[in-house]
Amino acid sequence: MDDWIDYYDSTHTIYVSKLHRDVHFRVIANDILAYVPSPEAVVLDYSCGEALFAAQVAAACQKLVLAEPAPGVRGRLTARFGPNPKIVVRSLDELAQLPDQSTDLAVMISVAQYMTAAELEGAFALMRRILKPGGRLVLGDILRPEVGAATDVMALLKLAVKNGFLTDALWGLARTALSDYWQLRQSIGLQRYSEADMLARLKTAGFEAKLAPKNVGYNPARMTFLATPRS
Ligand SMILES: C[S@@+](CC[C@H](N)C(=O)[O-])C[C@H]1O[C@@H](n2cnc3c(N)ncnc32)[C@H](O)[C@@H]1O
Repeated sequence: MDDWIDYYDSTHTIYVSKLHRDVHFRVIANDILAYVPSPEAVVLDYSCGEALFAAQVAAACQKLVLAEPAPGVRGRLTARFGPNPKIVVRSLDELAQLPDQSTDLAVMISVAQYMTAAELEGAFALMRRILKPGGRLVLGDILRPEVGAATDVMALLKLAVKNGFLTDALWGLARTALSDYWQLRQSIGLQRYSEADMLARLKTAGFEAKLAPKNVGYNPARMTFLATPRS
């Protein structure tokens, strides 16, 4: 599914305005913060995207590893957070160098839908290996098979109304309708998982997992799973 990585590396319009982008990454950072277990924690954000508010997460932990496959996004992360001694930026391949049982919290939010089954399995194996006993994987924004694109549009519009960017959201939706995003969404598609399917995959990967009461981010129709390494 490298086409999705190329998409996220391009000058895409998935965020309808600067305000939308800021609101999105602030919400995500706040939700990650709620899962940081202690100020000593080592945290991995797997496919973090622009992670605009990563400094706030880093301030609440000992070390934050921002991992991102898109090279252009990674370049901006390095430029933005290079001076922050608590943040390191890595490619996904470089995560192989992380020591076993070195991480307290791994988050992967709004990423599984872009992965092949093999990529998802690989990511789970990596996180299973690097998480400490008692550590946690937060797997967020998982699309259910039965929920369609209209629900995503409604979630965006609600966020836009709440944060004052409705006009931009309507224009943005019109722009996105003509863009690569919907073409890719139609041609490659997004991977969807039922609750039982994802729980089974996490179990196979060596985790004890459960559905969180609330999804991270702002789309309540999607799911978040909380998983800990099985001893
Ligand atoms: C919707 S963004 C999510 C970014 C961030 N986690 C957030 O919640 O805002 C999707 C991210 O997945 C990454 N991505 C796309 N395809 C991927 C793949 N096959 N494997 C791993 N990451 C991928 C993109 O580079 C991008 O950073």
